[in-house]
Amino acid sequence: MTDAVLDIRQLKTHFLLEKGIARAVDGLDLTVKSGQILCLVGESGSGKTVAGFSILGLVSEPGRIVSGEIMFKGEVLATKSDRQMSHIRGDRIAMIFQDPMMTLNPVLRIDDQMMEAILIHHPEYGRKRARERCLAALSEVGIPAPEARLRNFPHELSGGMRQRVAIAIALLNEPDLIIADEPTTALDVTIQAQILYLVRKLCRSHGSAFIWITHDLGVAAEIADRIAVMYAGRIVEEGPTDAVLDHPRHPYTEGLIRSLPEGQAPGQPLFQISGVTPSLLNLPKGCPFRPRCVRAQADCETAPTERISEETRYRCFHPANTPNEGSANELS
Ligand SMILES: Nc1ncnc2c1ncn2[C@@H]1O[C@H](COP(=O)(O)OP(=O)(O)O)[C@@H](O)[C@H]1O
Ligand SMILES: [Mg+2]
Repeated sequence: MTDAVLDIRQLKTHFLLEKGIARAVDGLDLTVKSGQILCLVGESGSGKTVAGFSILGLVSEPGRIVSGEIMFKGEVLATKSDRQMSHIRGDRIAMIFQDPMMTLNPVLRIDDQMMEAILIHHPEYGRKRARERCLAALSEVGIPAPEARLRNFPHELSGGMRQRVAIAIALLNEPDLIIADEPTTALDVTIQAQILYLVRKLCRSHGSAFIWITHDLGVAAEIADRIAVMYAGRIVEEGPTDAVLDHPRHPYTEGLIRSLPEGQAPGQPLFQISGVTPSLLNLPKGCPFRPRCVRAQADCETAPTERISEETRYRCFHPANTPNEGSANELS
């Protein structure tokens, strides 16, 4: 037995378009354990959101999960009925979207939607306890005067406040797995830090597993236990946060780290990975990062399979930071 909350094997989610097949997620392997925060990092268009939607069973036409397996607490999600899935969503698995209006209903007051979010899954709570839980959840995400906010409609709140309410709703039933899709990008730094702290606390106290999707490696450095770097629908590197940040194997991860503001020499222009993200309909042969890669060689025209070095797995024939492979293991 493992304590994996989520175990994804060879997941492929493709979009069948007139122009061809966009392989948005193309062979994703991922495990997230109880109490763990995994950050899924990568540039826009790398397949992060589609991966999150796939887990929740929210991919819609022309997109489709074409193969692979998603196990949630030992059960295969694909065999669940729509009714079972909607029961799991919002209770055992919650998603925090980039846009809070994906969660919030514009025509309902905050109290009505929060109460429903609890009572639909847990009628045994009763209205009084459910209301107390709503107030506590709003306070937890740093909403002042939560009593008054409960009477508001979403449009009466600021964007940042709406996002915090959406986050409070996701946390209401203390789910086992929370998928957060760049939810703090629009929030100010203080609130963002507060929410990251809250997420950590919930993970530790309740043992929830978190997948935090972000294009910002800086955010990942702050909260992640593990980092998975995605490029063109695949994980190109995955490992413990310190290992990935201190000894990146994949040249793409190296580039992302060099692009962080903290790593810049003063007065120098900001480092950027050269080239652009390739179109999924027209991927280069072999390693999709090859045309942008400073380490690329002729053999990169063959797609690299996954390799493992210590606790990090990566897809690259010419990795960085692997000098004494084999002799690096220390005896303790
Ligand atoms: N509704 C859609 N129709 C067609 N293609 C889509 C759709 N949604 C996503 N894709 C494809 O999947 C790719 C990955 O999208 P996405 O997961 O949203 O990227 P990310 O979240 O990493 O920015 C897109 O670049 C696009 O090619
Ligand atoms: Mg996205």
